Amino acid sequence: MTYSPIYLLSSNNISYVANIKLFLSYNQYMAKVKSKWVCTECGYETAGYLGKCPECGAWGSLVEEVQFASKLQPQVQDEFINKEKPELLKDIHIGEEVRVSTNISEFDRILGGGLVQGSLVLIAGDPGIGKSTILLQTSGELCKNNKKVLYVSAEESASQLKLRAQRLSITSDNLYVYPQTLMENIKNQIEDLTPDVVVIDSIQAIYSQNVASSAGSVSQIRECTNLLMHIAKSKNITIVVIGHVTKEGNIAGPKVLEHMVDTVIYFEGDKYKSYRMLRAMKNRFGNTSEVGIFEMNSDGLKCVTNPNELFLNERSQVSVPGSAIVVTNEGTRPLLVEIQALVGTTPYPTPRRVTNGVDTSRVLQILAVLEKRVGLNLSKQDVYVNVMGGIDVSEPSADLGIALAVATCARDVVVDPQTVIIGEIGLSGEIHPVNNIEKRLNEAVMTGFKKAIIPYANRIEDERIEIVPVKRLIDAITACVSAQ
Ligand code: TYD
Ligand code: MG
Repeated sequence: MTYSPIYLLSSNNISYVANIKLFLSYNQYMAKVKSKWVCTECGYETAGYLGKCPECGAWGSLVEEVQFASKLQPQVQDEFINKEKPELLKDIHIGEEVRVSTNISEFDRILGGGLVQGSLVLIAGDPGIGKSTILLQTSGELCKNNKKVLYVSAEESASQLKLRAQRLSITSDNLYVYPQTLMENIKNQIEDLTPDVVVIDSIQAIYSQNVASSAGSVSQIRECTNLLMHIAKSKNITIVVIGHVTKEGNIAGPKVLEHMVDTVIYFEGDKYKSYRMLRAMKNRFGNTSEVGIFEMNSDGLKCVTNPNELFLNERSQVSVPGSAIVVTNEGTRPLLVEIQALVGTTPYPTPRRVTNGVDTSRVLQILAVLEKRVGLNLSKQDVYVNVMGGIDVSEPSADLGIALAVATCARDVVVDPQTVIIGEIGLSGEIHPVNNIEKRLNEAVMTGFKKAIIPYANRIEDERIEIVPVKRLIDAITACVSAQ
């Protein structure tokens, strides 16, 4: 027997299942209805209830979902029964990929040049980070380009949205606002209005009648995304969906959501600071390593065209031990970022390792190399490593900067503030080359740096900046100390 992938009801309330049992005979129930438990955090599925999700470790996150056999399914949705036939690859005609610029340069950058018509884009981020703001601004800009936009607000009322639009100085004749939470109504309005772009604010707040669980549950998110995907593809309408992020940093709801959409963009940044970052995690139509940088002002989000000034202007003007500037290559644009380290004797039985903006295991590995290959004893020292500016550095080229920040703090010397540090560290203390060295050096020169410590294998001639090529970590530390 085949089971339908459309979940008709879902509930962690056992009585719901009991009702179905009443409805059907026991044998019918056993034969036609299958139940499973789904983790609301990660989408993990299992046959029985578990207190803790074995996949993501969340407690009490499993809810029961009941799946009907195909025959029992009361509403077979005809529109989903695809009447199209398979086509030969050679006969497929490629229509021109139509991209619509959002007129917001940083947003276009991550999208790979604009919104692709008929695509489904997910923007995820913490509450209050500015998701609604950027999409309302984008809607305003799209309308200026004569696009018809439908903004479905499932969280805010029309007047709240109007107030926000006034604050953002958005005046448009083409922008439709629709406060609605029921997916079927939204679908009808999209079909009536046939807009070019639809914004759904947010996926966790809308629900479909096909699913009996509450809005925001795994099944609801899956069902609504499925419907939206279908609308986007069949009507060639671009749909941008807002998704909230859980405490753990995942998009609330299943991972399937990320798999279903074409583009996943994370909106990051410190809520208490003014800058924000858009980062593409998945993009079927562009590069995923791009970062878009914005500043939140009283009149909305503004693009930051020279992010290096923003990240470095917070830097203290007095040189202090434990600070190093690295050049990470995020997407097509190198970023200069300050890494700070603090090393001090620990008052605890086990020394602390605290990191912010870099992967802790990466830092632990660098500390192990510093101990073993450089002879720096950190076994009784607390080590704190912080990436300034609230951004995350995931690139290994920041290794050498982290190592120098720690080593110089431990030895109480300063890294010359006019120097940038680039290089990946291997376990034997050797420095591995990095990609795009010319681009990184160019950015350093443009930002006013005079010297660069780079991997030996990357050495190049550049009269604009003093190059110090290093083969091993100890050479880089010596170069810093001897420059005092
Ligand atoms: P919002 O877009 O509502 O966040 P989200 O949709 O991600 O939950 O942004 C809310 C925050 O942005 C709020 O704290 C106020 C601030 N804000 C500004 O600073 N300036 C502005 O022009 C706007 C519209 C919001
Ligand atoms: Mg919002």
